[in-house]
Amino acid sequence: MSKKILVLPGDGIGPEITAEAVKVLDACRAAGLDAELEEGLVGGAGYDAEGHPLPESTLAKAKAADAILLGAVGGPKWDTLEDLTKRPEKGLLGLRKHLNLFANLRPALLYPQLAEASTLKPEVVSGLDIMIVRELTGGIYFGQPRGIETRDGERVGYNTYVYSESEIERIGRVAFEMAQKRGGKLCSVDKANVLEVTILWREVMNRLAPEYPDVELSHMYVDNAAMQLVRAPKQFDVVVTGNMFGDILSDAAAMLTGSIGMLPSASLNERQQGMYEPCHGSAPDIAGQGLANPLATILSVAMMLRYSLGESALAERIERAVGQVLDAGLRTADIAYPGTRQVSTAEMGDAVVAAFADV
Ligand code: NAD
Ligand code: IPM
Ligand code: MN
Repeated sequence: MSKKILVLPGDGIGPEITAEAVKVLDACRAAGLDAELEEGLVGGAGYDAEGHPLPESTLAKAKAADAILLGAVGGPKWDTLEDLTKRPEKGLLGLRKHLNLFANLRPALLYPQLAEASTLKPEVVSGLDIMIVRELTGGIYFGQPRGIETRDGERVGYNTYVYSESEIERIGRVAFEMAQKRGGKLCSVDKANVLEVTILWREVMNRLAPEYPDVELSHMYVDNAAMQLVRAPKQFDVVVTGNMFGDILSDAAAMLTGSIGMLPSASLNERQQGMYEPCHGSAPDIAGQGLANPLATILSVAMMLRYSLGESALAERIERAVGQVLDAGLRTADIAYPGTRQVSTAEMGDAVVAAFADV
């Protein structure tokens, strides 16, 4: 049966980068992928058109889809909306929560051609291949109570950092299984020296470990992990952590790969239904100028083919096509350096499609 893919371009550079990823999806369909595409509104685009960042019609389409491709949401235009439930980011968080997309996979992989594009020394990053497994539907992002209110004559803002054992266990199992398929090393990142919620997190990870004797589990505090990621990133294989720590560490890891414009992601639920999006945001500073790197979004399509559509051969073809384009020296501005050829967002997308036909 034909698979349903929902495309949600969103805001800022979202429409530019998803347009390139859709070109690649179309090339996959021409190569035999049986899939139908439909579009929907999310984020600021949803708010502007329908008064809500996650319109009912979008949520219904998302629930019915096998996979979702999302560009990015947010931007200064909506940053001052008084009603916090209408902010673009709430559309994205709502999709994650409604579809129960608790497992966020963020692979930081350095294409060898980009060793010079990283701000770190080539020998520090060459051969880098880390998988960050970020819990996505719990933790401080969703904990109750939360709010801003007046206490003793001044306003206070508060959030709740909470995880249940079952939430920790299910993300832990995803990470252990991922480590089994990769290099057999799992580093759980927490703040168990200070926060009770992560004392429990560490306990549950330790409890799971004997079930995965082929995986070597270690623990690291998040502040040290941030430092180690830039000091010696190749010590990591799979990293598992909570929602907020994972958000922050994955942006840091992105820079190891040359640019945040290179980092794709998959967000999965228990049925392997998934939402695929670049790790970066809507980049308002470069929106509409053809400067955005579409490769994170294109590589997110490869993850979609692999994890939700059962088409790993096509996924590998996309990844090889990206490699070939980089071999040819084509670079968007964020990864360009002397000796390479700077191209626009659309030129990069077209080049990947052309290479896809060859590889
Ligand atoms: P950002 O990731 O949008 O941008 C950070 C920096 O990286 C900017 O200088 C930007 O130009 C650059 N950058 C990002 N993507 C790039 C790409 N593909 N190619 C080249 N350069 C790229 O983060 P921000 O500026 O903190 O946030 C901007 C908006 O995006 C905010 O509204 C934020 O809430 C939202 N956001 C959305 C998502 C998402 O939709 N998943 C993720 C992060 C941030
Ligand atoms: C991301 C983003 C989101 C997050 C925001 C936009 C809600 O930063 O996908 O990394 O914090 O998860
Ligand atoms: Mn983020």
